[in-house]
Amino acid sequence: MKNILVTGGAGFIGSNYINHILKDNQDYFIVNLDKLTYAGNLENLTSSQNNPRYRFIRGDIGNYELVDYLFEKYKIEYVINFAAESHVDRSILGSAVFFQTNVLGTNVLLEVSRKRNVKKFLQVSTDEVYGSLGPEGLFTEKTPLSPNSPYSSSKASADMMALSFFHTFGMPVVITRCSNNYGPFQFPEKLIPLMIINALNNKNLPVYGDGMNVRDWIYVIDHNIAIDLVFNKGNIGEVYNIGAGNELPNIQIVKLILSALDKSEDLIQYVKDRPGHDRRYAIDSSKIQTELGWKPLFTFENAIKETIDWYLSNTSWWHRIISGEYQKYYEMQYNR
Ligand code: NAD
Ligand code: DAU
Repeated sequence: MKNILVTGGAGFIGSNYINHILKDNQDYFIVNLDKLTYAGNLENLTSSQNNPRYRFIRGDIGNYELVDYLFEKYKIEYVINFAAESHVDRSILGSAVFFQTNVLGTNVLLEVSRKRNVKKFLQVSTDEVYGSLGPEGLFTEKTPLSPNSPYSSSKASADMMALSFFHTFGMPVVITRCSNNYGPFQFPEKLIPLMIINALNNKNLPVYGDGMNVRDWIYVIDHNIAIDLVFNKGNIGEVYNIGAGNELPNIQIVKLILSALDKSEDLIQYVKDRPGHDRRYAIDSSKIQTELGWKPLFTFENAIKETIDWYLSNTSWWHRIISGEYQKYYEMQYNR
């Protein structure tokens, strides 16, 4: 049995990880530490909540005493750190909490893990640490870090800190850097769920700038399979890029969603661009493919259809979200 502290497991990617991994794997005991910020939702974990190999603890990764207590109480040997403030637009509205959680919170996890001789520490990072690409080329693990937003600079700081714990203390750290995820349980502030939900509500679809910014899309389960592989087989001190090779301009995704829902393109509204908006992300994932044998299992064509269907069948999940704090955020972000 592996006793694993999973942080941020009530968010989009972490909850999909827990649900997926507890279904297929008998060897993990997972303690999910999550603060339940606006982005955390225990409803995402309904299928795991009664599993005897799962515990939920509400708390902050930046609380040293709590993290240390959890290591002691649950004999934690491994950490997978998903917990973060994850939305670029919110980091532009206010950056402090991004540095509090993503940098100082990660520092607490690293310090306790070092003291407790953790067997492996996986830092879930992002391709955004590499900055922005021109029309050609891909991010490799050797691309210099050049983050452009408060969000991505906080994630880059955490990456560098985690690697410094490997170099200085020999701590068994690994880092994954993935591209844009989509799938069930994604908070509707992010492009794909926001556009699906606005279209369903016949609201305008706010496209930033000229709509030609490019992202490289991966289904969340493919990301999580890769994380689990790196967790088990990744070499310590190494970084692994994860991406499925699905580059698309935003406007193409928006039009695809409208067409799948049989809605008019008149709903598209071009709005003021995001400040500092990265133009293009694209991932070279040959390292994880050749060294660890990972490859994506889902095609964009099928998985985006499944995702749209999921939002159509789970209206009560997102209705509850958009009727809460989200409304205030939406006003601030889009009606300035
Ligand atoms: P999310 O915003 O959906 O979820 C974040 C979770 O972390 C929430 O449950 C929240 O309650 C929790 N959290 C926030 N602050 C906390 C704190 N101080 N202590 C404990 N819990 C806290 O994010 P996500 O999209 O699931 O992203 C998960 C991770 O993956 C992040 O580290 C993000 O940087 C990274 N990532 C995301 C993507 C993407 O496309 N969404 C791509 C690559 C990497
Ligand atoms: O690349 C990985 C990153 O992907 C993760 O590290 C982040 O946590 C995650 O939020 C995501 O960042 P992006 O900024 O790329 O994702 P977002 O969904 O916010 O935006 C995707 C693209 O769509 C981006 O070019 C901005 C654009 N966009 C977004 C929103 C919310 C719009 O045009 N309109 C919108 O309303």
